[in-house]
Amino acid sequence: MTGAATEARSLFARLTGGSPDGVWSAPGRANLIGEHTDYNDGFVLPFAIDRRTYAAAGIRADARIRVASTFDDAVVEVGLDELDALFPDERGAVPEWARYPLGVAWALRGAASRACPGFTLNEALQGDESGHGTDKPGQGWMTTGVDLAIASDVPVGAGLSSSAAIEGAVASALDELWDLGLDRVALAQAGRRAENEAVGTPTGIMDQLAAMLGRADAAVFLDCRSLDAEPVDLGFAGARLALLVIDTRVAHAHSTGGYRDRRDACERGARLLGVPALRDVSVADLPRAAELMDDVTFRRVRHVVTENQRVLDTVAALHREGPRAIGGLMLASHASMRDDFEISVPELDTAVEASVAAGALGARMTGGGFGGAAIALVDHDEVEKVTDAVTAAFAAARFVAPHCFVVTPSEGARREA
Ligand code: GLA
Repeated sequence: MTGAATEARSLFARLTGGSPDGVWSAPGRANLIGEHTDYNDGFVLPFAIDRRTYAAAGIRADARIRVASTFDDAVVEVGLDELDALFPDERGAVPEWARYPLGVAWALRGAASRACPGFTLNEALQGDESGHGTDKPGQGWMTTGVDLAIASDVPVGAGLSSSAAIEGAVASALDELWDLGLDRVALAQAGRRAENEAVGTPTGIMDQLAAMLGRADAAVFLDCRSLDAEPVDLGFAGARLALLVIDTRVAHAHSTGGYRDRRDACERGARLLGVPALRDVSVADLPRAAELMDDVTFRRVRHVVTENQRVLDTVAALHREGPRAIGGLMLASHASMRDDFEISVPELDTAVEASVAAGALGARMTGGGFGGAAIALVDHDEVEKVTDAVTAAFAAARFVAPHCFVVTPSEGARREA
């Protein structure tokens, strides 16, 4: 077990005086390409990374849920039947980190209360709540209390989705301890509901799906409308490539400001074009779009439409030619986020420019933007050279020194012990 897994176990022991019934984990993610396309019903190509969050969990004799973590000294304990009073409106009553695990428990219980014969828990998590919710089966587990101790080696605030890693680990633990039998997509949906309503961050579903569906040495090609997922081999090792993360250490928060504003612009663009989502707009429709809207809205739309196409092109290039062929698409994606979507920051641009100047095949910011990390696709034996060049460029620009580290595409959520 890694350091964080051991930490979760010892935290559980300090919390309860005993051993957990199990330890579950889920990874953070890096997005290879497809940014701000998920909530537009579009395509994304993330991969799960080899940094994970661990939840040591055990059943309690009463109907309460207690969470502890290495993020904070506070231990938060509430009755399971009090969760509905907390979320979404009174979430301020618990510390922010605790809203993720408690939000997942709340989302799973909410879905269960809507499930009934002919309308399974899996379906209830798909969000169609109409006409259901009566005639519930006996749900003994709904009063089974749980203790959770959480530790993580996913860097927080680096744009690598430490939050979806918590959600994935906790959803997997509760699924098994409560014997829910949910599929991985449904667990991702519970995580997203926690994120959107219990934490209050208006994100799409990419991060949760990546944490649940990741595969070693593969990215996950996701259609965020149908939620269909297909692993796409990356073959980095065979091509002697490494994926370098450059954490700019510029903090970002998606609950405020820019992220929500970009979502609004996309919805406005779709409305003006008369389509349900920007997924339904193709590159050939862009000249017409330009006539229908103001310049800023148009550039937001153009980013999403061209980015969807770049995801499809990247998947095709990986299948046809392998990972050495995708550098240009990564760079085009970054330029589109910098110029059209306007979510980059000088540190991210410097990370991309310096890594490419030092020999990276491609680079781009990854995640929601306004800070966080860039990724660079680098020859195996040039990792140090690129890292040094980026570090020197940050120093020359008087930026805080970046954290650079290699990540490998890894497996999604799993039971560890
Ligand atoms: C954040 C969100 C995701 C996605 C990305 C941008 O990571 O959590 O749902 O929208 O930003 O691609």
